[in-house]
Amino acid sequence: MSILELSKSVLNKNWKGKFTIPSPRLYPFQWNWDSGFIALGNLHVQPERALLEIESLFSGQWGNGFLPHILFHNAEEHSSYFPSADYWNSHVSKHSTPTLKSSGITQPPVHGFVLEEMLNHGLDTNRIAILVEKAIAYHTYLYNQREYANTGLVAIWHNWESGMDNSVWWDSIFERIDVDSIRKIELGRKDIHEVKESESTRPKDLDYKRYLYLVDELRGSHFENVPSDFPFQVIDPVFNAILIKSNRSLIKIGKQLGINTALLETKLEESISHFDKYLWNEDQGLYFPYDLVVNEQIKVHCSGSYVPIFANIPSVDRVTKMLDQLKKYKDFHLFPSCFPTENKFETKNYWRGPVWININWMIWKGMLSYNLTKEAEILRTQTIALVEKYGVYEYFNPYLETTAKTGIGGADFSWTAALIIDMIKQKDK
Ligand code: GLC
Repeated sequence: MSILELSKSVLNKNWKGKFTIPSPRLYPFQWNWDSGFIALGNLHVQPERALLEIESLFSGQWGNGFLPHILFHNAEEHSSYFPSADYWNSHVSKHSTPTLKSSGITQPPVHGFVLEEMLNHGLDTNRIAILVEKAIAYHTYLYNQREYANTGLVAIWHNWESGMDNSVWWDSIFERIDVDSIRKIELGRKDIHEVKESESTRPKDLDYKRYLYLVDELRGSHFENVPSDFPFQVIDPVFNAILIKSNRSLIKIGKQLGINTALLETKLEESISHFDKYLWNEDQGLYFPYDLVVNEQIKVHCSGSYVPIFANIPSVDRVTKMLDQLKKYKDFHLFPSCFPTENKFETKNYWRGPVWININWMIWKGMLSYNLTKEAEILRTQTIALVEKYGVYEYFNPYLETTAKTGIGGADFSWTAALIIDMIKQKDK
C-alpha cells in the first residue's frame, strides 16, 4: 500500500463518528492540538470530517473560553486511560462543560490557522464563522488568564500544555519540585503497557509523579489560576509562535467574515515586539523558553527553537542564519526534539531526541512562507521518507544510520498520517 493510502486508512481507523483519536488504545479520547493537525489532513480526503473534528473539539469549550487538552467523550467506555476523567475532575471549575468531562489544562492554539485552511478549501462559511468566534473566545481566555505583564505573550502552567510532554526544556523546572511533597502520589500509568521498550521510550515514573503533582495543585485552585510560588510558569516559544500564527489567521479570516478581531490585533502587535526580548538568544542564534519563576531563558537546543519560523517571527536574515547552523549536523534527521549535541539527548525517549512529524510540518510550512523552497523540499521529502520507511508512528529515531525497524511510541498515529497526507498533497498544488 502506498504511504498515502496507508495514511488515509489510519485516519479512517481512528475516526470515531465525530472526531479522531490520536492512536488506538494509547490515546482513546479527543486531544486538542492533535485534532487541529488531523483536520488538516482530512481536508484533502474527507473535508466534512475536518469540520466535524473542530466542531467536536469546541463542543468541549468552557464558559470562560478555555479549551481543554483532552475531551473524555464516552469516558465510561475507556477505563484504561490514566490520568482518567475522574482524576482530572474538571467539574471543580464553575466554567467547565456540565455534559462533557475534560482535563483542566490546555494545548497549543492551532485552531486559527486550521480554520483559515478550511476556508481556503471552500468549506461552509457559516459553520466556520461560528468556530472563528469560538477560537477568538479561546485566545481571549489566554490573554485574560495567562498573559505575562502586558507583553502579548502567554504562560503555560504544565508541561502537557506545551504538547512536548517530557522535553528537556522542562527539566530544570521539575528539579525544583520537592520529591518529599510528591511522595504520596500514586501512579496508575497505562501508557507504559501500550508501547514497546517503555523504560527507554516514555517519561520516567519520577517525572510522571511531578506531572501529577502539578495537576493536583491546579485542580486545587479549580484550574483558575496558579499560586505565586507555582513551579511551572513558562513562556514557551512553540505555544506562543502557534498563538501568533493563529492570531494572524483569525484576523485575516475574521475580516472576510465580518467578525471583530480588535483584541487579537492589539495583542499580536504587543507579542511580536516582546517575542525577541524574552525568547531570542543572540549568542546562540536560537529561540528558547523563558522561565518566569527565575526570570531566565532555558538554553537547550531543541526542535522547538525553530518553530517561530512557522509564524514568520524572525527576519529573513535571521532565519537563514538559524538554518545555516544545521549544516553541521549531518548524521541525523531533522528536526530532533532535542539535538544530539546536548548531554540530555536520548535517542528513543519521547520528546528528548526523537523526530516528531508535527514539528517538522510547522517548520516546513514556515520555510515555504519565506520562499526557502529548496530547504522546504528537502525537509518535506526527508519527512515523508522517514514515515515510509518506519511506519505511521508517533515519533522516530533521529539518527540516519540505525538498526531500528519501526517508529516509536503509538502505532497508527493520526497526526503523523494527516500531516503526511498534507505534505504529499502539497506537491499536487
Ligand atoms: C502525547 C504528546 C502530545 C499529544 C498526545 C496525544 O502526549 O506528547 O503532544 O497531544 O500524545 O497524541
